Amino acid sequence: MDVPIEETDSATLQNLEHKAAHQAFSERWKKTDDSMCRHSMSFHLLHSLRTEFFASYVYLLEKTPLVKLFPVTCEYIEGEKQFYYRAQQFYEDVSASEEGMMGDFVEISHVDLEGSRQFLKRFVGPGLAGTERALDCGCGIGRISKGVLLPIFEKMEMVDMMEHFLLHAHEEYLGDDADRIETYYCYNLQEFMPQAKRYDCVWIQWVACHLTDKDLMNFLMRCKKSLRPGGVIVLKDNMARQGCKLDPVDSSIIRHLDIMRGIIFKAGLEIVAVEKQEGFPEIMVPVWMVAMK
Ligand SMILES: C[S@@+](CC[C@H](N)C(=O)[O-])C[C@H]1O[C@@H](n2cnc3c(N)ncnc32)[C@H](O)[C@@H]1O
Repeated sequence: MDVPIEETDSATLQNLEHKAAHQAFSERWKKTDDSMCRHSMSFHLLHSLRTEFFASYVYLLEKTPLVKLFPVTCEYIEGEKQFYYRAQQFYEDVSASEEGMMGDFVEISHVDLEGSRQFLKRFVGPGLAGTERALDCGCGIGRISKGVLLPIFEKMEMVDMMEHFLLHAHEEYLGDDADRIETYYCYNLQEFMPQAKRYDCVWIQWVACHLTDKDLMNFLMRCKKSLRPGGVIVLKDNMARQGCKLDPVDSSIIRHLDIMRGIIFKAGLEIVAVEKQEGFPEIMVPVWMVAMK
């Protein structure tokens, strides 16, 4: 069918107008679309996924000690967990003396013992923990048993993985007080099962650093069960100023206090007091005392 000329022209014109409008619209729309996307949640999500997720992952690796330390503390060589094996090797060469127990800081032993005595006073006595029996964990030669626990508790038990420390404690270091030691356990704390409902106080000093997070948590759970009514667990250790650090020399982990709190919380214990040990030289890693029930 023939189309009148005027009609054809007007149709073409209309067509062009449509095209121009479409062009203008699509150009505008593209711009709008881009800017809408840039401000939309999905854009942010995509951006986060691309950049921030990776950054967070790296942050996690850096900041979460469990992630970073796991391969180090749980490395097995020929069936041996290297973290524990190295500590065992280290202490084999350590002398059974106060110097051996304190490393380079033997001169601060009396400050340490006085700080501990003052801290412990707050949890023992009428209406609090009894004074029948205490357990010294990672006791070494019994420096704390002698200076802090034996003056308060009638009887004591001691546990350490090194036989030569326990022998020295019994035969020499504790003198006549050795008669009040009911049992010396030569055990690794990660395997040690304290008897239930036996102790008024469980003291864990400068040895929690030798246990992995998981083993420490499980050990604390067992210690909780070993408490008599009113009993208290005291953990005293070096605490990192930031994060978590592994010392490959003696195979120990220094944890930030918050990380330690997390482990204690996971063990189902309630922290009743936290105090920094004062009077130690600034170059030393801060030492904190934590009492829990
Ligand atoms: C730095 S000394 C501290 C001794 C004592 N607590 C003191 O403050 O004088 C660490 C002690 O923990 C013991 N130890 C280290 N790792 C242990 C483990 N996994 N189980 C039992 N004892 C351990 C060592 O044999 C050593 O006697």
